[in-house]
Amino acid sequence: MEYDLLELQEKMREILKPKRYLHSLGVQYTCAALAMRYDCNLMSAQVAGILHDAAKNYDEDEQIRRCEKHQIPITKVEREQPYLLHGKLGAYYAKTKYHVTDEEILSAIAYHTTGKPKMTILEKIVFLSDYIEPSRKLIPGLVEIRKLAFEDLDLAVYTTLHNTLNYLKSNEQTIDNTTYTAYNYYKELVGAQLKD
Ligand SMILES: [Fe+2]
Ligand SMILES: [Fe+2]
Repeated sequence: MEYDLLELQEKMREILKPKRYLHSLGVQYTCAALAMRYDCNLMSAQVAGILHDAAKNYDEDEQIRRCEKHQIPITKVEREQPYLLHGKLGAYYAKTKYHVTDEEILSAIAYHTTGKPKMTILEKIVFLSDYIEPSRKLIPGLVEIRKLAFEDLDLAVYTTLHNTLNYLKSNEQTIDNTTYTAYNYYKELVGAQLKD
């Protein structure tokens, strides 16, 4: 499937606030760089990257309303933390507004916030790029994860999930079950490496 990246960029520039547009461009190019490193389809990675926050311009009530309108199921945690919905809703808009048909791209968009167990390379690339792209505020551990992303994909995913959970806990936010299951999965996967 061919996509017009310039057209997708133009659409995102129209609907997103300037900072979020810059973030989305950063995610697109970081996805491209990681896709080169890990032999992933460059076009798929960039399309997922530029579109991943396509639903984040709506406020939280509006995200709930739109999910209900499009019959996208909402979990209890998502109702408490509606920002989690922009992944699923973004995937829905990628399909219906921006004509993305590749299921893997749609899934990478849907799970970019929480991650999930057994992610494909593309899903891991989008999940990590969202966290490490150049315009992200420099939080503790970010410099290390930026390097690690290009050295060991699974270890970088694990470390990102670990830091995300710590951040959410310290802010007393309800944690999505998918993030927990993803964390436990990658902890087990990289466990052997960590013990060395
Ligand atoms: Fe996002
Ligand atoms: Fe994002």
